[in-house]
Amino acid sequence: MTVGAKLHILVSAGATREYIDPVRFISNPSTGKMGFEIARAALAAGHQVTLVTGPTHLKPPVGAAVISIVSALEMRDAILEAFPACDVLVMSAAVSDYRPSKRAHHKIHKSNPSLTLELQLNPDIIREVQRKAKGQVLIGFAAETEEHMASARQKLENKGLDMIIANDVGGKGVGFAAEHANAAALFRDGAEKPLGVVTKARLGRFIIEQAEMLVERKRAGARRAWRP
Ligand code: PMT
Repeated sequence: MTVGAKLHILVSAGATREYIDPVRFISNPSTGKMGFEIARAALAAGHQVTLVTGPTHLKPPVGAAVISIVSALEMRDAILEAFPACDVLVMSAAVSDYRPSKRAHHKIHKSNPSLTLELQLNPDIIREVQRKAKGQVLIGFAAETEEHMASARQKLENKGLDMIIANDVGGKGVGFAAEHANAAALFRDGAEKPLGVVTKARLGRFIIEQAEMLVERKRAGARRAWRP
């Protein structure tokens, strides 16, 4: 736990890659831009930043401690290792929910007209971290194409988060790889802050502002609880 006004913020960014064989993988269009903008906003506010990122062509913000990963299992290990020392976790990474049950040692040749893949669930990283939380603030994203607010509210509650960003990834010009996001913030106490279409830089600053407020609120609550 970092003492004083400045915080240690752990941010995940980008996509994970789940390899089928040495040359093929399952992934998604996340570029890491959203996570990098969150990290940039945290650095600009004077906080310490650890950034766990999947493969990306983007340059991470100078000043962040960068941990590069490839698969969901590697991201999970990196987040679990860094989490105890942080004050805030912001999970903006697009973590693959599934990985191939078997990873071929050699390139699969296209001799068969069809190929059947068996997939198995990856760990839900933010839920695993939530079970180990000791006062840290947990912020997630809900990437949705419909029922945005209801789905985000459900994830907020199921994963035990302090705040979640309902994030429209189906609209034109927003979401994966876009400059903008169409977002709303939902809080554990039921409050909701619709943001509409904003730049990811603006959304990054908003998330850090909210994280600072949530840390203060948690610490004030802990002080009240301790008062004899
Ligand atoms: O990187 P960009 O190109 O800028 O795109 C940004 C983004 C669209 C990827 C980003 O803004 C975003 O929406 N990230 C969340 C994507 C996602 O996985 O959403 P979800 O609803 O599937 O997951 C819910 C939450 O659980 C997320 O905080 C996610 O990081 C986390 N998660 C998901 C799966 C998993 N196995 N473990 C997790 O911790």
